Amino acid sequence: MSPAAGARETAGLRLRVLGAAAGGGSPQWNCRCEVCRLAWAGDPRITPRTQSSIAISRDGEQWALINCAPEILAQIRQNPVLQPQHGDRHTPIRSVLLTNADVDHIGGLLNLRERSSFRLLATPSIQAVLEANPIFGVLDAECVTREPVALETAFELLDGVSAKLFAVPGKTALYLEGDTVEIGVEGEDTVGVEFIGAGSRVYYIPGCATMTPRLAARLQGADLVLFDGTLWRDDEMIAAGVGVKTGARMGHMSMSGDAGSIAAFAELAVSRRVFVHINNTNPVLIEGSPERAQAERAGWEIAYDGMELACRS
Ligand code: MLT
Ligand code: MN
Ligand code: ZN
Repeated sequence: MSPAAGARETAGLRLRVLGAAAGGGSPQWNCRCEVCRLAWAGDPRITPRTQSSIAISRDGEQWALINCAPEILAQIRQNPVLQPQHGDRHTPIRSVLLTNADVDHIGGLLNLRERSSFRLLATPSIQAVLEANPIFGVLDAECVTREPVALETAFELLDGVSAKLFAVPGKTALYLEGDTVEIGVEGEDTVGVEFIGAGSRVYYIPGCATMTPRLAARLQGADLVLFDGTLWRDDEMIAAGVGVKTGARMGHMSMSGDAGSIAAFAELAVSRRVFVHINNTNPVLIEGSPERAQAERAGWEIAYDGMELACRS
């Protein structure tokens, strides 16, 4: 093994939160809920957030995007590690992995169409959604290789970073919903990602309808979990007067309450826990709010765009 390879072996995983908000972003273009009103007014207690995506690297040179938000261009401008580094055409982005087919997670793919090579990885059912939408043909098959990834099977995401997809309770993408919608189904439509590299065990689960015993057992002992932080309470959008759906109907468990994520994780040994995919109505976005304080007292961090998380063994 060369000295350079040896140095790489001991490097840890680097994660960057590119966008910490849920679908719509924060503030959302057409929203004047209490939290968005503060954000539109430039209140210093609120930091605007773009839609849901993270990037991961082992060596700081090759990066994988996990989900690709409509704001990917702005996210690349905000994150120099993702910018072209040499030659006339270059990108450090080697892979894009998807956890569902929601607009906030696939919309940015259309902006990666200028003939740079990367691997596009997702479960067969998420790949089928892309295949069925001809607009994604702008990703030239000569450059962008679409790789189906089976659940529960480790694969190499980047040199030195292996990952595994697993089903989490969820639902089909909003725009694919039929007359009846099965919520909490575990299959290929909504997945979590386990990353293994440099001795750390890290999970990214931006959408999850409920904590099952199987999921709890999987997360036990993890070094870091980035988890669905869509809503504070299940009826939040109804109470704010900006929607008719509960969090449960949208396939997202809430932070608070007996069946919420804060309670579910209280039982688990997880070294670091971070909420991502936070909806613009969620009061944890307001620094100093009672909800933010409650989440932090329970050991949670609230992700923001540009947050860097390093994991070393
Ligand atoms: C979700 O996470 O529930 C979706 O992103 C909703 C949406 O498509 O706006
Ligand atoms: Mn979403
Ligand atoms: Zn809002």
